This record gives sequence, C-alpha cells and structure tokens, in this order.
Amino acid sequence: MCGIVGYLGKEKALDIILASLKRLEYRGYDSWGFVVYNGKKIFLKKVVGKITEAENIAGVQNGFVGIGHTRWATHGKVSENNAHPHFDCQQKIFLVHNGIIENYDLLKEKLLNKGHKFNSETDTEVICHLLEDYKKKFKNLKQAVLETLKELRGSFALVIFDKDNPELLIGVRLASPLILGVGEKEFILASDLLPINLVGQKFIALNDEEIVFVTKKDFEIKNFTNQQKLYLFQEIRWGQEDIEKGDFPDFMIKEIFETPRAVRNTLKGRLLSDEVKLGGIELLGDKLNKISKIVLTGCGTAYYAGLVGKYVFEELTDFQIEIDVASELRYRNYKFDDKTALIAISQSGETADTLEVIKEAKKKNIITLGIVNVPGSSISRIVDAGIFTYAGPERAVASTKAYYSQITALIMLAIFLGLRRKLSRSEAKNILEELKTIPEKQEKILNLESEIIKIASDLTKSRSMLYLGRKFNYPVALEGALKMKEIAYIHAEAYPGGEMKHGPLALVEHDFPVVFINPHDSLYSKSLSNIEEIKARGAKVITITDDINCHFEENFIFVHHTLELLTPLLTTLPLHLLAYHTAKLLNRNIDRPRNLAKSVTVE
Ligand code: G6P
Repeated sequence: MCGIVGYLGKEKALDIILASLKRLEYRGYDSWGFVVYNGKKIFLKKVVGKITEAENIAGVQNGFVGIGHTRWATHGKVSENNAHPHFDCQQKIFLVHNGIIENYDLLKEKLLNKGHKFNSETDTEVICHLLEDYKKKFKNLKQAVLETLKELRGSFALVIFDKDNPELLIGVRLASPLILGVGEKEFILASDLLPINLVGQKFIALNDEEIVFVTKKDFEIKNFTNQQKLYLFQEIRWGQEDIEKGDFPDFMIKEIFETPRAVRNTLKGRLLSDEVKLGGIELLGDKLNKISKIVLTGCGTAYYAGLVGKYVFEELTDFQIEIDVASELRYRNYKFDDKTALIAISQSGETADTLEVIKEAKKKNIITLGIVNVPGSSISRIVDAGIFTYAGPERAVASTKAYYSQITALIMLAIFLGLRRKLSRSEAKNILEELKTIPEKQEKILNLESEIIKIASDLTKSRSMLYLGRKFNYPVALEGALKMKEIAYIHAEAYPGGEMKHGPLALVEHDFPVVFINPHDSLYSKSLSNIEEIKARGAKVITITDDINCHFEENFIFVHHTLELLTPLLTTLPLHLLAYHTAKLLNRNIDRPRNLAKSVTVE
C-alpha cells in the first residue's frame, strides 16, 4: 500500500520524483523519501509527514536518475529510518518497495550473521543486503537481481538504483503493480498510471515475474529466469487537468462533481437504442450461454456498487445471484461450479483481496469478468473479459465517481446478458433511454450543494447516525454511512429500513440523526411508515426523495424521479456531498483520512 517511482532521463529527476510522489500520495502518506543522483553526488532524503517541497529539498540538486517512495507502514513503525529508499551497508544500492517480503525474518537473521548492518525495522531492507552480497559475488548487478529474486517470498514491486551502475534503473514486479512510462529519451517507473504522463502518454504495464532494465536510451523486459519478454504499448487517455485539483479545495469534491462526466464516459459508444455494445464481453461468445449463476465481489465502495448490481441483475436476468466482499469470499469454502461467472468490481484494479478471489476462480476454470477503472491494472489483465468504466483518475482515498460508473457498467452488463434471456427489447429500450438522462439529473443534484451544507452543519456535533434504505437503496444507505465514517469520523450504521424494529430502533432518541433514502419506488409507502416510526421516537430525519410533497419535511434533499433500478445513481450523490461537507466543517483531512489508503494492495 505504498507508492513507488523511479526516473531516468533528462536531468530533472528531482522534479519528476516529487511530482510523482504527490500523485501517488493517496497510496500511503505517513512518510516518504527519495534518492537523486547527478553523476557526482547522491542526495538521500527521508521525511516523516506530508510531502512538501521547499523545506525538505534544501540543498538537493537535480539529477538524471532517482527513485522515490511514499509509505504506508506495514513492517516497522513510522520513522525516518523506516521510510524508503533503503540501502545496503555501503550505501550504494538503493531501492524502493511496495508489498511485503514474507520471509524477511529468516533472510535478516542470515544477513545479520554474515555481518550486515541494518538501518531500519522494515522487511524491505533485506533486499538491499542480498543484492549487495550477490553483486559482490557475480560482479554484475543484473545477475545480482536475478539471484536475489530467487530468495524472496511475498509480493513486491521494486525500483532499484546502484551508484556503481548509475545509468541503469531496474524495476521488478511480482503481485504488486508496476508501470513503465516511455517518453522521449526518458523513462519513468511507477506504481500506477498517475505519474506516467510526466514523461509521456505511452506506457507498458509489467506482468508478474517481470523485470525491466532501463538505460538512458532503451529498455528491455525479462522474466525472472532472464528470458526476453514481449510487451504491449498502451496509451493514457486522460490529460493533465484530470489529475490536478484545479479550483477545487479537495480531490474528493472535484471527483464528486465529475460524476456526470464519469457516467457519460462509461456509457459512451456502448448504447444502441434497445441494446448494449460491450466489445470485451462479446468476445466470450457462446461461453456466455452456459452461465446460470453470477457471483459479484469487490471491497469497500466497489462492493456496494456490486450490491446495487445484485438487485439489478435479479430484476433484469434470471441468473442466480450471489455477492460477498472479497476479503471474505477468498477464504470461504465457496463452491464455484462451471456454470458460474465471477464479476469483480474495482476502481484501481489492484485491490489484493479482489485479485485473490479472481485467481481462485480462475483455478476452477470459471469465467471471470472485471469492472475496472484503471487500464493496465492487475485485475483488468487477469480477467477473461471486462468493462472499463472510464471514470478518469480518482485520487481521493474515498471512492466516489468510480462508484457511479461501476453501477452504470453493471446495469449495462445486466441488460446485455438479460437480452439473451428474459429481458425484452422494449424493456431494454425503456431503461436505456432513462439511463441516458441520468448525468443531467445528477448535475441538478450537484446544484443543491448549499442546501446540503446547511444539513451538514447540523451533523457536526453528532457522535452517531443511522442510514436507512430499502431494496436498491439499501446499498446506498451502506455507502452513505461508509463515507460518513471514513472522512468525517462520525460513527454511522446502515440498515435495511425494515430491520429497524429488530434492534436499531432502540438507539433512536431525541434529535438522533437518521438519513432515510426513500424515492418513490415499490417500497415507498412501507418506508414512509418506517420514517413515522422513527420520528415518533424523536429522531431528526433527513430524507432523500423524489417526492415533491416532501417539501413539508424539515430536512429533505430532492432528487429527480427515475426508474427504481436507476435510483442509486441519483440518491447516493447527496450522501457523498453530505459526508464531504460534514467532514469539511469538521476540518478533516478529506483526501487522506486517518489510517486509510486508497489502493489496498496488501491483505
Ligand atoms: C479502499 C478505498 C475505497 C475503495 C476500496 C476498494 O478501501 O478507500 O474507497 O472503495 O479500497 O478499492 P478498489 O480500487 O478495488 O475499488
């Protein structure tokens, strides 16, 4: 759950490393560091805290090569010593690492017995000392890397720099992401795509068990047994403005406001009047006909998008549908059979638990589909087929716009598969026509920001809240509560509205805040009774609804009417804004909530 970067090129390593670390900061932000080399001198910096330029780079000169790291502590406390880059005894070999070395304790013991001096408590440092030994033995850095890799167990992406081989930068990937960006006589290695366009739009996503040897002029990709590997160039689709905050105070609010565009991009080129075109999925051909069961999985917000997907699939198809969070599913004794298709949902495409479920499913030869935002990511490359959501880069730790794109993709997939089974073309047409209107309706909700701020200002003193919704809007309640917890640090629980009387009602007392998502859907009147029940106990109810009569309610947020199965695309938006503004009023660090990171690439 760290971010790593390396640069070799045109005497601007320091600038590129710092800019990259800022872009990768969401992956980990308790400490950071870099090494830059200018041909004469090594500049090493390790800092606990925020990535700021001026105070920490005093005296550091630019160079043609450098590596950097932003840390999210796993092994070893947050300290300067434990921050990367780590180095060998001679301070010649420096490296940055994302992942975990599972057998580091055994390796460390061996290296200590040989007389190596350790500078940190991390698992990573053993790699530097192993490289040191093998370099001495083989008098060749590349060989040293290959030998060292034979000893490591775990998951890792590494970028390695050696002062004795300064025009060579080495990247290694095993189960942690690493991307090579290729510019004009300059190269960048990074944990994800965000820093890549600092050198150009072209990139190669390394596969597991691949090493890239980068020189000033060229690069070559080999596997762990030193055989040449073929590679595929891809192109980044977004520009600079997509990854900068612009005039917004935080990435999260920028990304919430990008929701209509994200949904439009997910739909783009895929809707015909009464059917959906999904190029990737179509390639599966007849294999799709044998599916009778769908298992959905994901983590966090992606899981809640999946939960909406469950209701949608049940409505539009006749598949048997199951869903579980990936961190549970991977350890369950779940019986995948050959009629099952797994749908994995992930913004980053790198979440370790989700990836593991896919690997398990693949071992059992079942069809795996991915709904992924980041091209070139691990999940997008491992699944049999999938749908890219094209929501654009997401940098705030708490996922927002990607969620709407994920739901949109799931709806399209349900229509696509439904049409091969029970769904009629006219039903499909009706849904697709309405789906096209969603971005505009979302824009109208975004205009309600000032009303939502008023409601948020009443919540800042709350210690606890309830979120309630039914059917399609039960996952919305879960997502609303998750956001309130993760960025405002207010305890919030979500329940299906009908479950109140089985326990949570006991919590309700005078002025207890309850958010009820209640559009005019098939359970509308039942939810109204639930609301009355809570109000009678003195709760302060905030209703999200498309019922205009609700103007008589004290606290309500109006969303436009849509088909029941599309309501989550609208009703979640006020909740994202509500959590954001509550957190803002409480002065929280919104883009970097405490204890959390965006890409959870370790268990
Ligand atoms: C982290 C993020 C969440 C995100 C989840 C799944 O917990 O903070 O916002 O929903 O990971 O991430 P993924 O990239 O797989 O969608």
